[in-house]
Parts: sequence; C-alpha cells; structure tokens
Amino acid sequence: MQKRETWGSRAGFILAAVGSAIGLGNIWRFPYMAYENGGGAFLVPYFIAMLAAGIPFMILEFGLGHKFKGSAPKIFASISRRMEWLGWFQIAVCFIIVTYYVAVIGWAIQYFLMSFNQGWGASPADFFFKDFLALTSSPMELGGVQWPIFFSVAVAWAVTFYAIFTGVRGGIERLNKVFMPLLFVMVLVFIGFGLSLEGASDGLQWLFKPDFSAITNYKVWTAAAGQIFYSLSIGFGIMVAYSSYLPKKSDINNNATMTVFINCGFSVLAGVMIFSVLGYMAAQKGVPVSEVVSSGVGLAFVTLPTAINMMPMPALFGGLFFLALTIAGLSSMISLQEAIISAVMDKLNMPRKPAAVLICAVGFLVSVAFTTGGGLLLLDIVDHFVNNYGVLCGGLVEICFLTWFCRLDVIQEHVNAASEFSVGVLWRVCLKFFVPIVLGYMSIKNLIGDLSDGYGGYPVDALTMFGWLVLLVAVVLAFAMSCKECAFSECVATNNHLRRK
Ligand code: ALA
Repeated sequence: MQKRETWGSRAGFILAAVGSAIGLGNIWRFPYMAYENGGGAFLVPYFIAMLAAGIPFMILEFGLGHKFKGSAPKIFASISRRMEWLGWFQIAVCFIIVTYYVAVIGWAIQYFLMSFNQGWGASPADFFFKDFLALTSSPMELGGVQWPIFFSVAVAWAVTFYAIFTGVRGGIERLNKVFMPLLFVMVLVFIGFGLSLEGASDGLQWLFKPDFSAITNYKVWTAAAGQIFYSLSIGFGIMVAYSSYLPKKSDINNNATMTVFINCGFSVLAGVMIFSVLGYMAAQKGVPVSEVVSSGVGLAFVTLPTAINMMPMPALFGGLFFLALTIAGLSSMISLQEAIISAVMDKLNMPRKPAAVLICAVGFLVSVAFTTGGGLLLLDIVDHFVNNYGVLCGGLVEICFLTWFCRLDVIQEHVNAASEFSVGVLWRVCLKFFVPIVLGYMSIKNLIGDLSDGYGGYPVDALTMFGWLVLLVAVVLAFAMSCKECAFSECVATNNHLRRK
C-alpha cells in the first residue's frame, strides 16, 4: 500500500478547497440567480442554505475524507462494501463534468487572448455562435473540430496534468497558492475600476434591491440551495479526496466553515463585478438593466464582450475578466480530476504518475467532442442531466446513507476531536432532515419537469442519448467498478462499525 500524500500547510489545503469551490458557477451563475430570485432578498435563503446545508455537508465531507484517508469509493466501501458503487458514481459524474468544463475554460482562454484587441469584433453574438463555435443546428450533428478551441483545451489539460502529475503538495497546492490570491486581486481590481463607471451603482441596485415577496416562493429556496451545492463542490467526491490528504491533527470544522465563507463571499464579489458592468452597459444604451442581463454562456461570451466594447480600457477589463474565468475554471477542473485520480490510485493501488497519464489522456480524448460545432449543444444537455440528476441524486443517496444508515455520532466525534469548535445536535438535524428534504424535493421537481416538458426544446432522441443514456452509463460503470476486487477490501472489516446494526 502506498503512503498517502499530505498537504504542506493548512493554508495550502484551504486555498485548494476554495479553488475547487470557486468556479464558473460563482462567476456566471450566482449573479444571475440572485438577480432572478429576489435580488437582495435571495441572500436570505442563500445564507440560510449556506448555514443549514453548505457548512454541515462540508464538515461531513471533510470529516469522512480525513477519517478514512481515501477517495469516495474507498470511503463508501469501507463503511459497507455494497455502497462502493455510490463513490464510483460520483467519480463518473466528475469525469463527465470535467470533459465539458474544460471546453468552457478553452473558450475563456481564447477570449482572454482576444480581449487585447477585442477580437470578437463589433457583433459579439454573431462572432461567438457563428465564427468561433461554428454552431450546428442540432446536437446530433457535431460538425468539425474548431481548432482554436481544441488548442486552448489542450493547454487547459496540460496545466491540469501538470498539477495532478506533480502531486498534492508540489502541483495542486503550489498552483492554488498562486491562482487563488491572483483571482481575488484581479476581481478586486476589476471592481475598483468597474464601480467608477457611469451607471455601475444602478447595476448594483438591480442586483441587491430586495424583493421580499420572493422569500415566500419555494423556487427561490430551491434555487438558493442548488447554487450552494453546485458551487461548494459537495456531493461530487471532490472534497473527500482533498481532505483525505490532511494530516492527522487537523481542525475539520474550522477549515470547512472557512472554505464555505470564502466561496460565498467570492460569489457576492462576482455579483458586484458583473452587475457594475451590466449597469454601465444599460446606462450607455439607455435601457433598464433587465434588458441586458443574462446568465451562463450568454453572459460571459456575448453580453460581457458587448459591454467591454463600450468600456474605457477594454483590454484591461476584458483581460481581467477572462483570465479570472480561466483561473476559476482551472482550479475547479484540477479538483475534479484529482477526485478521479485518487479513486483510481486507491482501487488499483496504482502510483500517481501512470494514473495521471491514463486519466488525463482519456479525458482529453473525450473532451474533443465538446470542441466541435455541436459542442455547445452537447454540453448544454450533458450539463443539465449531470447536474440535475448526477450531482443532486448522488448527494441525496450519500446523505441518506450516511445519516440514516450509519452512526453519525461516530463521525461527529471524529470531526470534533481536533477542532476549535464542536458541532452537535443542530449539525445532525440539518444533515438528517434539512439536506435530504431539499435535495429530494429538487430531484423530484427536476424529474417531473423533464418528463413532462423535456429540456431546452431539444429533440427527444438527443435528450435520450446525451442525457438519460449518459447517466445510465455512469450507473453501469459505477457498479462494474465496484464489483472488481480491489486494494481497499481490507478496510471493510475494520470500519464497518459505522454501520447501524
Ligand atoms: N464548484 C465549481 C463551480 O462553481 C464546480 O464551478
């Protein structure tokens, strides 16, 4: 059995965990979610979800990784051999996400390069969809590989490979120690300049003006909880992998709380950054902010470039925004990949370097599909299904299993052992009731919506093939991997005291 690596310092671990949490979700999803769901009033359910679900779940995942010193499959197999599949399902979900997440990072790299001379031209929407992506009319029609995207995807893979190949301390920790401070500085510089723009304060008013009637709407609550789960990378097998490299004496509760606060604080900063620009753009056009606001791909690659074209110092704003997007994406991608590599290393008792070569090479090959003309449509479908079912249902089964069928008090004792503050009955109540109810409710709602209305107006065969079938493959692979005899079978006998009899 190989000796498990450890982080070089507590700060290194927290920066890596924050790097995983802060990603595309914070920059292009949070501001829009907040704006759409009651503005300032959204912050109420958001912070409640953060306190009642985000922090408790993060403590649980950090505790599991630290206690079992292993990846998600190893942890679940250690508690019950029959639950190993759940860990592999989460790993399969990470693999699927990483293959399209990298495409978005690839776009961001290209846009970073173009921002110096606003290479997207005077009509960013036409440029993005027609020239840059060469978007096809259907996800069933891939078209050709877009070579500029392909090359920047290769660059993103190279950085990720470097981080994973060189290991926890020498690669992941070292990169995040540069990436995270840089990211915060860039966003703060952007905000510093952005707030001085005409109309910026109107943008912030639109974002933060509270519409308290939204608080009584259940959709606002599920949106807030969904944003918390996605953004914190919990229920993916990532945080357990990262915390498995913590040294024996580690303050789990404090580390988890800090990670959550830094991530959510960054989301609010990203909101200020985006809405100061949207406010400026609306003022230039003489229209209300509601007419220029958008989310996701449209926000980053169409709306923002349009705004940047109108701004003073466009190269500075464009460069800062797209570099921030690239860095936030890369640090999350590295964590997704590490969750996979650690599982493979644990299961096959494989050294890090060959595991990194193997998994990065396979990931790179699959991600080429997302660099084609049909890539965006493919990405949209896969992302919808993997997030709404893969992540949420994986998290739901995990939390139900751990809180209803295992002895949570044993994990509680473990996380409290070396922590400055202890968690108690409130922590257990949140995990046992609040989190499963929210996750269960969201999963059922999503299922009903997809079965009755489909998704995004795509044809049924495309949704079946790239949505349901992809999920089915993940489940089959998960069971296949868990059937294979492995290097961590011996843990089962020693750790099954966690199971309720
Ligand atoms: N937590 C990562 C994000 O927000 C996955 O993008």
